[in-house]
Amino acid sequence: MVPAFLILFGAFETLQTDLFPDKKFLLLPPMNFTIQVTGLAQVLLHWEPNPDQDQKNINLKYHVKINASQEEDYETRNTQSKCETTLHQGFSARVRTILWRDSSFLASSWVSAERKSPPGSPGTSIVNLTCTTNTAAGNYTNLKLYQVSLHCTWLAGKDAPEDTQYFLYYRYGAWTEECREYNKDTLNRNTACWFPRTFIHSKARGRLAVHVNGSSKHATIKPFDQLFDIQAIDQPNPPMNVTAETEGSHLSIQWEKPVSAFPSHCFEYEVKIYNTNGYYQVEKTTTSTFISTTDGVSKYSIQVRATVSPQCRAMGLWSKWSQPIHVGNEQQPMSEWLLITLTATLCFVSLISLLLCRIYRLWPKLFPPVPAPKSSIKDLIVATNWEKAGPNETEIEAISYIEEPAFEILESSAF
Ligand SMILES: *[C@@H]1O[C@H](CO)[C@@H](O)[C@H](O)[C@H]1NC(C)=O
Ligand SMILES: *[C@@H]1O[C@H](CO)[C@@H](O)[C@H](O)[C@H]1NC(C)=O
Ligand SMILES: *[C@@H]1O[C@H](CO)[C@@H](O)[C@H](O)[C@H]1NC(C)=O
Ligand SMILES: *[C@@H]1O[C@H](CO)[C@@H](O)[C@H](O)[C@H]1NC(C)=O
Repeated sequence: MVPAFLILFGAFETLQTDLFPDKKFLLLPPMNFTIQVTGLAQVLLHWEPNPDQDQKNINLKYHVKINASQEEDYETRNTQSKCETTLHQGFSARVRTILWRDSSFLASSWVSAERKSPPGSPGTSIVNLTCTTNTAAGNYTNLKLYQVSLHCTWLAGKDAPEDTQYFLYYRYGAWTEECREYNKDTLNRNTACWFPRTFIHSKARGRLAVHVNGSSKHATIKPFDQLFDIQAIDQPNPPMNVTAETEGSHLSIQWEKPVSAFPSHCFEYEVKIYNTNGYYQVEKTTTSTFISTTDGVSKYSIQVRATVSPQCRAMGLWSKWSQPIHVGNEQQPMSEWLLITLTATLCFVSLISLLLCRIYRLWPKLFPPVPAPKSSIKDLIVATNWEKAGPNETEIEAISYIEEPAFEILESSAF
């Protein structure tokens, strides 16, 4: 309807009154057009019908054109109009009386009004303002109440004096609040604000106005306004109670919907599965379970995040990823494996040596008692020969004797 109107309007604007055979009929512009600031980034346009306008039997309307950060153009039968717009760059608007008759269009001349941009030195206003909202469950046991928090960050203007202090306000509908919890930069200037709870409704639509002004002894700080689409800046909470289990190579993951005023069917999820070998998989799902397969060997980490689906509102932000949970086989780091293998080998070797010593009674010969100077060279040669015996032989010997002398070994090693 609006684009259609604009096209027609463009075509008819130049033709104007020529199309009307009744040349005596003239449209007169509205009177006493004013722009009144009614809130943060909010103005009320007001005008009066021209008292000299012949009103009988005709269907008068007004055509409003707004020239601000965003141009707007619309028709109305009312004599006032509310408008949300940023005001730090000034604001101007025009209005005129219009009349549609059959398919012809007639318009009066324009009347304009303007609000100058607020004073301030260039480069002193904040830059890079970003805001996000988040919903938390209220602490009421039986009532499902939610509270919405707001977090904004910005940077000080590059030419803002060191003593500059910034102040942030938000407006949601008719509610306006000033920030009370600021974070500061190294020069002690406020550069972030946190509202733990706001007047913002947890399923809000529409726009959030944010105004940041400031003061300094050395300069006038230029204020800054920004309008945010509330749905676009809302960051859902991560999914809750993420669990996962593996059965062989079957991996099944479950979670619960995030804390939110939106019901379960409003959520979409992304599941991220990865392991230390660089394996990485991200999958989308609209249910709160996900089944996958694994190699059955590695250990996996799993994270899930959520967003409100376009079914329930305009696509907004993704939540943060949930805390990683781990499933699958313990995969020991290399050094641990080495240590275990080394210890096992050492144990085995000492066991075999002990066994051999015991069986062939080499112990006293290898470690002769201190006052025994008669140990002969011959015995030592035998010992050396046994040690040189092939590994297969040694193993067989060890195994064949393990049943019987095992107790003995234990006994003797206890002494
Ligand atoms: C316009 O404003 C003036 C002064 O406030 C007032 O006298 C006049 O009646 C107004 N005109 C209309 C059409 O309301
Ligand atoms: C601030 O915004 C400008 C333009 O939008 C960008 O180039 C710049 O990198 C941003 N600065 C920081 C610190 O984010
Ligand atoms: C519930 O909320 C109120 C107001 O925010 C707070 O003072 C109180 O400590 C909270 N109680 C619990 C149990 O969290
Ligand atoms: C900042 O804006 C608020 C809200 O419009 C106003 O009450 C306050 O006086 C302003 N402060 C400065 C320093 O301009």
